[in-house]
Amino acid sequence: MSELDSELLAKVLSHAHYRENDYSQLAERVGHDLLEERLRGQMKAYDRAHTFRNRFPLKWLWPLYRKGIRAGLWVMGQYDRARRNARNPLWVEREEWFPHLPEAFDGYRILHLTDFHFDYIPEMPEILHRILEGRVFDLCVLTGDYRGEVTGPYQESLRHLKRTRSQLGEEVFAVLGNHDNIELLLKFPEMGITGLLNEAVEIQRGDASILIAGVDDAHMYQTHDVEPIQDRIREAAFTLFLSHSPEAYKIAADAGADFMLSGHTHGGQICLPGGWAPVVHLHDTPRKMAAGPWTWKDMKGYTSRGVGISSVDCRWNCPGEITLHVLRKR
Ligand SMILES: [Fe+2]
Repeated sequence: MSELDSELLAKVLSHAHYRENDYSQLAERVGHDLLEERLRGQMKAYDRAHTFRNRFPLKWLWPLYRKGIRAGLWVMGQYDRARRNARNPLWVEREEWFPHLPEAFDGYRILHLTDFHFDYIPEMPEILHRILEGRVFDLCVLTGDYRGEVTGPYQESLRHLKRTRSQLGEEVFAVLGNHDNIELLLKFPEMGITGLLNEAVEIQRGDASILIAGVDDAHMYQTHDVEPIQDRIREAAFTLFLSHSPEAYKIAADAGADFMLSGHTHGGQICLPGGWAPVVHLHDTPRKMAAGPWTWKDMKGYTSRGVGISSVDCRWNCPGEITLHVLRKR
């Protein structure tokens, strides 16, 4: 395998929090081209954040936006309540029916968590512990955004994820979000988490099997690619497709996936009465995919409002959620 671009690697390693990583091991894991593309994207995100934070008048806009939201809630007398909302994700239990589901998987219970943004609410592991204690499920899937910011240190969010891991059962599959750096993939195995970066894994129940497919971030890095797993999806009796953002809906449906799970939007996080979200951070994606269940062609999907928050530690008319999907054979 050829060496990584030395200039790119030097730039990556200029950030102290990345120096612990073995990039040749990561290149072996995900492939040289994908690693370089992802790292270039990550460095571009650093440059953008640096420019954004330091250039007048942009450096005032982001803090102003955050303060504006807080001030608006405070003026309405709702700021404390909105902060409490952000620390009280709901337990949502639902069934989804599929004609192609193998009989052996009828009643299969999938726990879905997404958008932790751990460093914004450090007490999140305790909150999750309280909600998850005693819950029964067969498999857990995580659809990304473990870190608070888009750039910067990730070790704190990793520590919180490790604390949460014991609540997630034996089998955990995870994809990366637009707030996550690719280096996390090296950390997942020691936590007993299987990271899926344009990859798929078959799981068995009795004599039957289904495929769990996962792609990289489709929102910011756009390094999602279904091609390496296309044939396996086509041959599988049933495919559960994980993508941080629902923006991968077209490639998932065209590949033949049956059920797609996503997060990313936070359901809008700050919504108008009735739950309408002014901002959902989706490009070229139907608005119905911003939260809850949806359908595209023959594929069903569900976009979770997520566990945590970003930007402002408040939720308004939009509770967070931890979701249990029970697969049913029609
Ligand atoms: Fe997020």
